[in-house]
Amino acid sequence: MAHKTSSAPHKTLRMRSSSSQRTNLSVWSATATIPRIPSLNANVRADVCVVGAGIAGMTTAYLLAREGQSVVLVDKNQVGRGETSHTSAHLSNEIDAGYRHIEHLHGAKGARLVAQSHSSAITQIESIVNEEEIDCGFERLDGYLFLGPKDTDKDLREEFDAASRAGVKVKQLERAPFDLDLGNCLQFRQQAQFHPLQYLAGLAKAIKRHGGRIYSETEAKEIKGGRTAEIKTKNRKKISAGSVVVATNTPVNDWVKMHTKQAAYRTYVIGVQIPPDSIPKALYWDTENPFHYVRLLRIQDNHRTRDILIIGGEDHKTGQDEDIENRFARLTAWGRARFPNIGEAEFRWSGQVMNSIDGLAFIGKNPGDEPNVYIATGDSGMGLTHGTVAGMLIKDLILGRGNPWASLYDPSRKSLRSALTFAEENLNVAAQYATWVTAGEVSAPEEIKSGAGATLRRGLSKIAAYRDDTGKLHERSAVCPHLGCIVAWNPTERSWDCPCHGSRFNPDGKVLNGPAIGQLQLAKPSK
Ligand SMILES: Cc1cc2nc3c(=O)[nH]c(=O)nc-3n(C[C@H](O)[C@H](O)[C@H](O)COP(=O)(O)OP(=O)(O)OC[C@H]3O[C@@H](n4cnc5c(N)ncnc54)[C@H](O)[C@@H]3O)c2cc1C
Ligand code: FES
Repeated sequence: MAHKTSSAPHKTLRMRSSSSQRTNLSVWSATATIPRIPSLNANVRADVCVVGAGIAGMTTAYLLAREGQSVVLVDKNQVGRGETSHTSAHLSNEIDAGYRHIEHLHGAKGARLVAQSHSSAITQIESIVNEEEIDCGFERLDGYLFLGPKDTDKDLREEFDAASRAGVKVKQLERAPFDLDLGNCLQFRQQAQFHPLQYLAGLAKAIKRHGGRIYSETEAKEIKGGRTAEIKTKNRKKISAGSVVVATNTPVNDWVKMHTKQAAYRTYVIGVQIPPDSIPKALYWDTENPFHYVRLLRIQDNHRTRDILIIGGEDHKTGQDEDIENRFARLTAWGRARFPNIGEAEFRWSGQVMNSIDGLAFIGKNPGDEPNVYIATGDSGMGLTHGTVAGMLIKDLILGRGNPWASLYDPSRKSLRSALTFAEENLNVAAQYATWVTAGEVSAPEEIKSGAGATLRRGLSKIAAYRDDTGKLHERSAVCPHLGCIVAWNPTERSWDCPCHGSRFNPDGKVLNGPAIGQLQLAKPSK
C-alpha cells in the first residue's frame, strides 16, 4: 500500500513506564520527558502573568516573551498535566463542528476567518518547532473525513462545499487513495500531527531562553485585574502584573457567565498496536455524532519499534453517563471493524473538552471584568489549534495591535443562532439540581465495594463515598463547591465529576478540573 506520507521518516519515542502502569495514562505522558520546574517562593512582578501551562498558556507566554515582555507563567501542577496531556494531537483546520454549522452560525466571513486562524495556528506551531528546534515529531500529512453509518453522501457534499467556501484545501474522493476502504471521503491537505508534551517541553525551554519565568505547583487562588493585576497563590505569594491571562482550560476566575456558554464533555481514547505501515500515516475522522478520531504514533519500547493506532470518541456530558466502563470496549470494536490487524488496547485514557455553544473558543477580554484580564476557553475539541490562536490573538490584544480574529473569538460575543443550544445546555444544567432531593445511589457505605464510589444520603446531606483498594472509606460532601450541583462517581478515572459545569475532584476531594477552585468539603460524620 502506498501513500504519499507513509515513507516520511518516523519519529520514534521511548516508553517511560511499564505496561502495567498504563491504565488511564496517555501515550503522551508515557513517552514524554518534561523536566520538573520549581514553585514560586517569593512575590514577583511582571508585564504579564499567565495562569495555566497547557498549550494555550505556554503559547501565550512564549509569544509575549519573544516580544520582549517580562512574563511569569504559573501552573498548579507540573507542566503538561492538564488536558494537553489527554489529547489525540490532530492539528487540523477542519473544525470539529463542521464548516456547514460554522457558516450557519458565524456567516461566510466568519467561516473564512475560522479556516484562516486554524491554518495559521498550524503554521505558527510549525515555525516555533523550526525556530526553537523542538524535537516533537511535527509533520504535515493529509486528513480524511469519512461517513458514519447513518450519514449520507449529501452530508459529505455539504461539508465539502462549506469548507471550500471557507478557503480550506479539500477534495471530494470516491475512495481514499490507498487500500483502506473508507468509502466516500473528503481529503484535507496540509494537516499536521506532533507529540503535544514534547512540544510543551520545548516551549518551556524556549520561554526561559526568552527571559520568561515559569513556576509549577503554584496554584492561583485569587485573580484580580485593575491598574495592576494581582494574582494570589495558594502558598501566599503575590504576582503583580500589567495584565493577566487565565488559560486554565476552563476559567477559574469567572463564577457564572462563561460557564453558561460552554459545556464539559468527557471523551475517550485507546492506543492499540498495529503492524508497521499497515495503514497510511494520516489523520482520520468520521461524521458520526459523537465522531471518532484516529491517528498513528511510532514508539520504541524495549528496543522494539512499534506503531500505535490512537482511536478516540464516545463523548458524553461530564458527570452524566451510566455506561462509562463500556466506552473503551466500544472504541476497540469500532477500530477492529475498520482497521485490520489491531491488537488489544494497550493505552486507555479519557479527557475533557469544553464545547462552546457556537463551535468556537472564547479568547480575549474576560466579560464584565477589568480590561487587563484575558481568558482562553471553550476549546470545542480543537484546543491545540484554538490554544495556539489564543497565544497569537492575546499577544496582539496585550500589545495593542489589531487582529482580524478579535471579534470572532470575543468571549462577549452573542449569536441569536446559537440561542437554542444555549437554552438546551442551561436547561440540562438546571435539571441536575434535582439530585439534591433524590435518594443516594446506595443507602449505606457497606454497599460500596473496594475501588468503587457512590453517593449516599445522610439526613439532609449528600455524601460522596469512595472505598479504596485496601477497603478504607473516604467520605466528602457531594456538593460541588462551584455552584452546588451533586457530583457523580467516574469509575474509569476514579474521580468525582460535576454534571453541571465539569469540575472534577479526586477521591479525597482535591480539584482536578475547574471551574471549582475549592475542594469537596469533608463529610459530616454519621451520628
Ligand atoms: C481526548 C482528547 C482529544 C483531543 N483531541 C484534540 C485534537 O486532536 N486536536 C485539537 O486541537 N484538540 C484536541 N483536544 C483538545 C485539546 O487537547 C485541549 O483543548 C487543549 O490541550 C487544552 O489546552 P489548554 O492549555 O486550554 O488546557 P490545559 O492543557 O488543561 O492547561 C491548563 C492548565 O491550567 C492549570 N491550572 C488550572 N487551574 C489552575 C490554577 N488555579 N492555578 C494555576 N494553574 C491552574 C492546569 O494544571 C493545566 O496545566 C482533545 C482533547 C481531549 C481530551
Ligand atoms: S462545576 Fe458548576 S456546580 Fe459543579
